[in-house]
Amino acid sequence: MNQEARQRAWRLLEESVVTYRGEPVGTVAAHDPETEALNYDQVFTRDFAISAFAFLLDGRPEIVRHFLTAAVRLQSHERQLDCFKPGEGLIPASFKVTGDGADEQLTGDFGEHAIARVAPVDSGFWWLLMLQAYVHVTDDRAFLSQASVQQAIRLVLDLSMTSRFDMFPTMLVPDGSFMIDRRMGVYGYPIDIQAQFFAALCAASNLLDADEPANAPYRAALDERLPHLAHHVRTYYWLDLERLNQIYRYGMEEYGPAAVNKFNIHPDAIPDWLMDWLPETGGYLLGNVGPGRLDYRYFAQGNLLACAAGLATEAQTAALMQLIAQRYDDLIGQVPLKLCFPALEGQDWRLLTGCDPKNRPWSYHNGGNWPVLLWLLALVGLRTGADELVERALSDAERRLVQDDWPEYYDGRRGRLVGQQARRRQTWSAAGYLVACQLLERPERIELLHLGRSVEGASCAMPV
Ligand code: GLC
Repeated sequence: MNQEARQRAWRLLEESVVTYRGEPVGTVAAHDPETEALNYDQVFTRDFAISAFAFLLDGRPEIVRHFLTAAVRLQSHERQLDCFKPGEGLIPASFKVTGDGADEQLTGDFGEHAIARVAPVDSGFWWLLMLQAYVHVTDDRAFLSQASVQQAIRLVLDLSMTSRFDMFPTMLVPDGSFMIDRRMGVYGYPIDIQAQFFAALCAASNLLDADEPANAPYRAALDERLPHLAHHVRTYYWLDLERLNQIYRYGMEEYGPAAVNKFNIHPDAIPDWLMDWLPETGGYLLGNVGPGRLDYRYFAQGNLLACAAGLATEAQTAALMQLIAQRYDDLIGQVPLKLCFPALEGQDWRLLTGCDPKNRPWSYHNGGNWPVLLWLLALVGLRTGADELVERALSDAERRLVQDDWPEYYDGRRGRLVGQQARRRQTWSAAGYLVACQLLERPERIELLHLGRSVEGASCAMPV
């Protein structure tokens, strides 16, 4: 590990800290002096989560506690029948501090000010993961048992677990409701959301106070949901050569509980690239599973988080790391690591992104490389003994990150070019790198983040 790179990353992180009434409360998304700030001068929940992990592992929990409190205060608290206001329990995508001195105010953005008004489904999940890591590192039970904190947990669960039009244990969401916050065909049941949902539900079941009577129905609902969710993802999202061959030979139009082809998948929809690309050994979790639909794209955050949180089985985790090692150029690349593979091109790009120029093929969310994901690669890699792969990825990353001043993302099939519209001095690029270094230096720190728990999959996930 390069000490100079680490020092620079810490400096960037420290310079990005925002204060509210004299206390540190978060980090801005980016600090690029050459580009218009737009909303990158705000504290994003998902971006701050990675900073929070870096601060916690460095023994600096205060900023995390202040952030957690600010998010509780901003959480939407009124049951809404107003279609223009956020639903009760939503944690903002980002917030900013306005005014001076005693007049300072926190103002949250629930998507109203984001491009195309996308609501952040993932914010509540990141909030739970940060809370869990904070409590685990500090043992601050007094903070956790505050009525407002326990209530905030229940509100996130109300919003994400209540049945509406769902037929599966997975969570139904609109397009672009998480890190990929633009239209990318990631609506329905995207793996990134399912992995976060699972990790967050595990966190909630660890964090809900067992002595609080109001928590009892939530704890029971979690105990029931988690095994079903685990079984569903492990069974229907998993893809390796054997499973691909089953899908290839599927029968069609089967009804009822005996159906083998449960989602009525048509083998003709298997994309050409996959047949030769999938190695003999190794596998991954599909990008999306729903009626008549398998999205065969590989998404790094969902796959790695599923492994980190124990949603993927141990065998699946080992197989994912085999796939990553065998397809290193595609999935890690020159500056790690690929967010989504392969890119949507041609007619797929036109239809699924709506001709989005920022997401043209092999750029940004659509096949760009994102250094922020290094922390997850390190976490899963070190757990499975892939230390060499992690070290290689980190040393490639640090060289370019320092040289290019911490870009938000890289473009190209192998991630060689600084992203076309990437900001420099992007906080989570530095934080993702730092957490990876912290874990590599002392792998026992992985347990401090306390992601997930062991959940046995239920034997039948879909009652009919
Ligand atoms: C972009 C990313 C989003 C991130 C935000 C701030 O909108 O798509 O994931 O949270 O920038 O960095």
